[in-house]
Amino acid sequence: MKAIVIGGSGQIGGWLLHSLRENGHESVGTYCTVAYPGLVRLDGVDLEGSARWLRTEKPDVVFFPAGFTWVDGCEKDPAKARGANLDQPLNLARVAADLGAKFVYYSTDYLFDGRRGPYDERATPNPLSVYGQAKLEAEQELISLLGDRVLIARTSWVFGPERQGKNFAYQLVKTLRAGKTLTVPSDQVSSPSYGPDVASATVRLIEDGHSGIFHVVGPEVMSRVTFARAIAEEFGLEPSLIQGKATAEMGQGAPRPLDGGLLASRLDLALPGAMRSLATALADFRETLRGGGEWANPS
Ligand SMILES: NC(=O)c1ccc[n+]([C@@H]2O[C@H](COP(=O)([O-])OP(=O)(O)OC[C@H]3O[C@@H](n4cnc5c(N)ncnc54)[C@H](OP(=O)(O)O)[C@@H]3O)[C@@H](O)[C@H]2O)c1
Repeated sequence: MKAIVIGGSGQIGGWLLHSLRENGHESVGTYCTVAYPGLVRLDGVDLEGSARWLRTEKPDVVFFPAGFTWVDGCEKDPAKARGANLDQPLNLARVAADLGAKFVYYSTDYLFDGRRGPYDERATPNPLSVYGQAKLEAEQELISLLGDRVLIARTSWVFGPERQGKNFAYQLVKTLRAGKTLTVPSDQVSSPSYGPDVASATVRLIEDGHSGIFHVVGPEVMSRVTFARAIAEEFGLEPSLIQGKATAEMGQGAPRPLDGGLLASRLDLALPGAMRSLATALADFRETLRGGGEWANPS
């Protein structure tokens, strides 16, 4: 199949391109501001230009691991949040619909209010933030536009090797290696999810003809402090440099679901074992960084 990855320069997008190529699929990835060799520049803000380009590519499937992913930034700029997370994917999904292509959208556990997590695919969303609200509306509009040609992959706390080296694990390793303290919310609970597994699972779901909502998350639900300590331990760093603080005292711009996280009930049936445990994923993460290559090293 021919796949387009909008956001190929990002964390999940980079691994999608890797998985697609490994599985013998033709793929074209895009970047917006951070260029890598082989990627095509596309800014979703240019609705007409990006739709025109996608039409000429004639893909069988469009993956959309893109958008405005800074949750606190979304709260400050709701217009940008809705543009990037709702209007831009819908614009490209309309082209996919015309072409008879499938569309894969990446969503989040921030759809839920975090009163009673973890949530399975049938739980009722109640977003607390602008980011979560835009993601929910995008899910709904995409399903009504594309029916069984859309796959919604909800994920959370994605970590692992990535070329831009931005995710939480990199921040933690850099901070602790510098001997500095890292303060993390003590009362936020979710599902750490290994980026390479999120990508390969969604490619396999598409290959196997699945559609609808799937929770694509790691098998464990834990607090941010426990997650942070596990990363520190794997990288031989001092866990006492990690300090927990109540969300109410953190001053984060957007409200967070506290008792969050996702249950991958449908994924476990469709692809048992597709998501590695945190311990196995962290060991793989460290090995991959040791190997160098295209993945940024946090030292
Ligand atoms: N990371 C998580 O923990 C997490 C959790 C739940 C859901 N998700 C969802 O999963 C998806 C992927 O997340 P991620 O962590 O891989 O994100 P990421 O690393 O921040 O990558 C975002 C990608 O979107 C591209 N992009 C940004 N603005 C764009 C625009 N105007 N037009 C076209 N492309 C644009 C970026 O390109 P440049 O970098 O080149 O500018 C980048 O390739 C997102 O939709 C996110 O909401 C992520």
